[in-house]
Amino acid sequence: MPPAVIVFPNCKINLGLHITGKRPDGYHDLQTVFYPLPLHDALEVVTGTGNPTMALTTSGIPLDGAADNICTKAYRLLQQDFPQLPAVAVHLHKYIPVGAGLGGGSADGAFLLQALNRKYSLGLDEPALMAYALQMGSDCPFFIHNRPCLATGRGEHLQPLSLQLSDYRIVLVNPGIHIATAWAFARIRPAAPEAPLESIVRLPVPEWKHRLKNDFEAPVFSAYPDIAECKEALYRQGALYAALSGTGATVYGLFEKNAHLSFSFPPHYFVKEC
Ligand code: C5P
Repeated sequence: MPPAVIVFPNCKINLGLHITGKRPDGYHDLQTVFYPLPLHDALEVVTGTGNPTMALTTSGIPLDGAADNICTKAYRLLQQDFPQLPAVAVHLHKYIPVGAGLGGGSADGAFLLQALNRKYSLGLDEPALMAYALQMGSDCPFFIHNRPCLATGRGEHLQPLSLQLSDYRIVLVNPGIHIATAWAFARIRPAAPEAPLESIVRLPVPEWKHRLKNDFEAPVFSAYPDIAECKEALYRQGALYAALSGTGATVYGLFEKNAHLSFSFPPHYFVKEC
């Protein structure tokens, strides 16, 4: 029996996010920069027996039913085209906050596609994996690529960017609020950005504050003032830049390496330096 495979899906933050148009298929065109961060879930895959189905168990942050988990979707998508795929038992340990704008669920689905592809030698290349990933969600293809990039279209057209933030401390804060992606998109009036994101992120980080914007901040901050307060708290602590990631509810702050940080967020908030 092949040995177990364990992979560690990571999260992402969005550096700027503009909704540029509404599409006939119901989705929106957007422009954003995806930046991967080393905050991980863990996903173990072992070969099962019997009918080719996937048994999913989870630990860590509690999740709703297994049937509509993105891991189940990933397995079913591949099974349609690869009937030789055996039964598998998957264990997901959830650590990345859920419904948080960090892409944790998308990463789980994308990493499972890759793990199944490798473990069972399905022979899928990166474009093919990205096409499967897009069927699971708009920011899933990013996690196949998983390097800093400018994303357009629904979020699936990816252009690599030479951008690295390793000179900064990155702090994530999430007040435990779940934001439904569709709710957030419904509150945006699409518009062209004032300046292209790829030129703004090439500026020094201290110049991002009044230039690099996330369109979701206005509706999300007005509905959830606690999230707006997280961003203000990061700036009060000396962040060079702070913003909402995706549709939230996570905000992140970029700090100088030698910054002295002492936060006083309520104990149930998720606060993590990456
Ligand atoms: O693609 P995903 O499943 O993550 O999208 C969830 C919801 O977010 C969609 O049903 C849609 O309402 C909205 N969305 C959108 N345009 C995008 C991505 C998401 O309108 N580019």
